[in-house]
Amino acid sequence: YESVLDAIGRTPIVKLGNISKGLKATIWAKLEFMNPGGSIKDRIAKYMIEKAEREGRIKPGDTILENSSGNTAMGLAIVCRQKGYKLKIVIRNTTSKEKIKMLEVLGVDVVKVDASLPPEHPESYNQYAINLAKKDPSLYYIDQHNNLDNNESHYMTTGPEIWEQMEGKIDYLIAAFGTGGTLCGAGRFLKEKNPNIKLIGLDPVGSVFYDWFKNKKMITPARYLVEGMGDELLIGTAQLDMLDDMKQVEDKKAF
Ligand SMILES: Cc1ncc(COP(=O)(O)O)c(C=O)c1O
Repeated sequence: YESVLDAIGRTPIVKLGNISKGLKATIWAKLEFMNPGGSIKDRIAKYMIEKAEREGRIKPGDTILENSSGNTAMGLAIVCRQKGYKLKIVIRNTTSKEKIKMLEVLGVDVVKVDASLPPEHPESYNQYAINLAKKDPSLYYIDQHNNLDNNESHYMTTGPEIWEQMEGKIDYLIAAFGTGGTLCGAGRFLKEKNPNIKLIGLDPVGSVFYDWFKNKKMITPARYLVEGMGDELLIGTAQLDMLDDMKQVEDKKAF
């Protein structure tokens, strides 16, 4: 490849033979950790930046702003470095030290916010970047939680890859639900190919999505340790109406 950016996506899909033994279903895993930044979020970082470039919203030299549990930040760090953007990332102070260190090594300006602040607090993870973007219009707030280019990136890449790799033999797509971009974007593509495919989201206990999906009930969010899934607020990319079901995941089982 000419650039590390060309190595994003087209990840392998592998049958989980041992785990599937004795089950009615055969489970396959798409190895998103094999993206250069170590997660599926490389895809959205590249797609959201390149779309913003094509539409003239940003140009090299600009500063990109985002809040991330770490993986989108890593994807953006790689894309920004390659393309000549500066990057400012708002991160919860509970995010693993290794992730934060790695971002700093890549030259990212990391702002750590107190994870215990409620989502409506102006200094909270949910509000800090919004307020910063309002104060400083030179920052481009890429906003993976409301930017539908996130979902579109999975509609354009993850969905078609899964369809091709599985030769269309898919009954369920199951994914961790963070922004919902993966499941809603790839899921929209798969449902267009075969409307019988069911989409199942995984939400941590303490996140608001599950109860909203099941009963349109807004719970008071509670803390959980698993990273990259769930939220304290309903967000624009979480197109919950598209899902067929949601399951809850406890920290104990997740680790
Ligand atoms: C490693 C990893 N997988 C999955 C997700 C969730 O994906 P999505 O935001 O597309 O729902 C995240 C979100 O941060 C993540 O970091």
